[in-house]
Amino acid sequence: CAARGIEVIPEIDVPGHNQALAAAYPEFFCFPKPDMKVRTTAGNSRELVCPQKPEVWKFYAAVFKELKDIFPSSIVHLGGDEAPTELWEKCPLCREARTRADMKDEQEQMRAFFAKMTALLAKNGQKPQFWYEGDAGIYHPGETVYAWRQDQALQSIEKTKKAGLNLIMASSEYCYLDFPQIQGQHNWGWMRTTTLQKCYELDPAFGKPEKETNHIRGVHAPVWAEHLPDLNHLLYRAYPRACAIAEAGWSPMNARSWENFRRKLADHRQFILKRFNYDMERTKENEPPFK
Ligand code: ACM
Ligand code: ZN
Repeated sequence: CAARGIEVIPEIDVPGHNQALAAAYPEFFCFPKPDMKVRTTAGNSRELVCPQKPEVWKFYAAVFKELKDIFPSSIVHLGGDEAPTELWEKCPLCREARTRADMKDEQEQMRAFFAKMTALLAKNGQKPQFWYEGDAGIYHPGETVYAWRQDQALQSIEKTKKAGLNLIMASSEYCYLDFPQIQGQHNWGWMRTTTLQKCYELDPAFGKPEKETNHIRGVHAPVWAEHLPDLNHLLYRAYPRACAIAEAGWSPMNARSWENFRRKLADHRQFILKRFNYDMERTKENEPPFK
């Protein structure tokens, strides 16, 4: 990757999106469930790691150290998205800690949790990034967050500018490549169809002027793989839309041309089919249904 100018950034999502951890180490959670299974479906769980358990911090210290040994990047994406605090609210250890520290609610506990996580990373010279969750108050000026929530890009641009944050645009209605790209493809009952042309129309600044958007550092296109049964499907959904997001990231709006892009894609098509040994007919047959 380094030879091709690519920096690989690992993501360790905390304190939620953590059900695999809950299956392996139930004791890290507020209400341990020894029979917890690894989650293989979309969505998020109620389980958050319990910040009051010292073994949690020992565990993440070891994880961050190991990431440092594996990845040359000094960035660790800490996620921070979709973390419902109802179990922290009920947990006796969390309750006692909030009272002791005079915290008024679980959001304050969340801010303290991320401050401690960030300090843990700093010991290794690492820095966090986050999925942007609006006014959560867990971010500090100069940090980088990703706008991802559907139809919330504009307000994310405005709020992050005001807060002194860097922003990466990954707004799901343009950038989520696990979403179906053609009507009739499986959508789990909730994903919007996101055509190649829709991806190409992404304006990372959402029409706002340069001085209000000069904190936007780039674009990002997630492919959440739990929706996709095999590598063939993953590639089928990622391409050619990844090419459209790439061009949206690199080209100012006045240099964009859908017709020109389509012409260029004809060349990419040959490369994609050959390079990935990609079996379009087999993928079409399988789509839908997904298992
Ligand atoms: C996300 O899709 N939960 C970042
Ligand atoms: Zn707890």
